[in-house]
Amino acid sequence: MASITIRNLDDEVKDLLRRLAAENDRSMEEQARVMIRAAVEGQLGPVGRIDQIEKTLRELTSSHSPATPIAAMSSQISRGSLSGKRILLIIGGGIAAYKALDLIRRLRERGAAVRAVMTAAAQEFVTTLSVGALSADHVFVDLFDRNDEHDVGHIRLSREADLVVVAPATADLMAKLANGHANDLASTVLIATDKPVLMAPAMNPKMWSHPATRRNRATLQKDGIAFIGPAKGEMAESNEAGEGRMAEPLEIVAAIEALLDIRPKPLAGRRIIVTSGPTHEPIDPVRYIANRSSGKQGHAIAAALARLGADVRLVSGPVGIADPAGVTTLHVETANEMKDAVEQLLPADAAVFVAAVADWRSETSAGEKIKKVAGEGPPALQMIENPDILAGVGHHKKRPSLVVGFAAETQDLVKNAKAKLAKKGADFIVANDVSHDSGMGSSGVMGGDRNRVRIVSKAGVDEWPEMSKDEVATRLAALIAERLKTITV
Ligand SMILES: Cc1cc2nc3c(=O)[nH]c(=O)nc-3n(C[C@H](O)[C@H](O)[C@H](O)COP(=O)(O)O)c2cc1C
Repeated sequence: MASITIRNLDDEVKDLLRRLAAENDRSMEEQARVMIRAAVEGQLGPVGRIDQIEKTLRELTSSHSPATPIAAMSSQISRGSLSGKRILLIIGGGIAAYKALDLIRRLRERGAAVRAVMTAAAQEFVTTLSVGALSADHVFVDLFDRNDEHDVGHIRLSREADLVVVAPATADLMAKLANGHANDLASTVLIATDKPVLMAPAMNPKMWSHPATRRNRATLQKDGIAFIGPAKGEMAESNEAGEGRMAEPLEIVAAIEALLDIRPKPLAGRRIIVTSGPTHEPIDPVRYIANRSSGKQGHAIAAALARLGADVRLVSGPVGIADPAGVTTLHVETANEMKDAVEQLLPADAAVFVAAVADWRSETSAGEKIKKVAGEGPPALQMIENPDILAGVGHHKKRPSLVVGFAAETQDLVKNAKAKLAKKGADFIVANDVSHDSGMGSSGVMGGDRNRVRIVSKAGVDEWPEMSKDEVATRLAALIAERLKTITV
């Protein structure tokens, strides 16, 4: 088996390895192996040769890697990245409370001031002593403790922060905030704050999938609460696995950095068109042909590109979700309207075609509702082809420098995506399996919150693991930023 040549690594990488190795009581070589294994298993596809391994390690620790997973991006301790930021951390009563200790450490490493509020249940899992020692501040636990010399009141606590983070966010804390309860310090702070709130839920998979928790999450999202995780995996309870594991501290740090908008803006000055959602092709004034696309993936991509500073123009078909923040959204119904809107937005630096555009439409659309007449049977619909928006822009004289298409397939995923790549004039195709047995739950990819995609380009096929649609969007936005970096304006 090949060995890792630590001495050939950059000094910065060596320092990082040395520190992580010491923290984890491992040799530097073993630490490197653990990091590479984690990255490779999770993100980067097969890695065989030693020079490739060292390259991977460099990428993991370089701030510019497009393929770097969120946690790894944040694990490059950008000391001072949160300098001057004040985080109010609410710790709920779940097993994952122990991870809040590491989270405090990671935040302080980056220069943030962390103040903690603990629920009564949280104190059953970790002590105020540990939390106070790590945060180097008083730990707040009581709504009514006027005798406490440190008492600053729930209003001040909630306002004297740049961001409120709830980690772990218990089912109970989510329920309380979704329903406006304020019967202890944590819930009162949450309802009194005028600052952004980030929740990192952690609970048993059955609790997470319970309709009540799903309702509460949807309500909180509608109210503007941001979420990170939960992830799928082994639970602390034996023999339990599923969705409900709290996001890792470094992932929470990355989400905090993104929310506080302190990340670099590599797409500043770039105009990017994104299409999203289904199209509706009318049959008469009340009936139409549609598909199951929810717009979740396209909207998430538009938002992720905007977070990187792009001027994003989203052309959305009819969807039931909100327009993404920081994005200019144009609403259309039909494939023809979508095509016109896209063409009017040219020129652009990049275009990402996520929308599930109907391939066909009824040749005619009746001016009046088609009546059901007894004995006449159903009307015969003559179907004609809709314009191919991706191919049109891929071969357009004002073609953007970067054209990305999506291929939703139920069979021969990669083969079909490769064929599409050439035919449509796209730089890469994001292929996803939308069949019911795609392993993405009963709703499948269309309408669901998770996705597993492959990036198909001339260079080959890069298979990404299953992740949330938001995570796919974040990674894709990073990839687009990296590609555009090599293209001058
Ligand atoms: C051993 C144990 C582990 C628990 N783990 C969780 C958990 O991971 N997530 C959760 O939502 N509730 C969990 N609970 C239940 C909460 O502690 C309980 O709902 C509590 O009222 C939450 O209070 P809080 O939201 O004020 O922190 C656990 C309870 C016990 C006894």
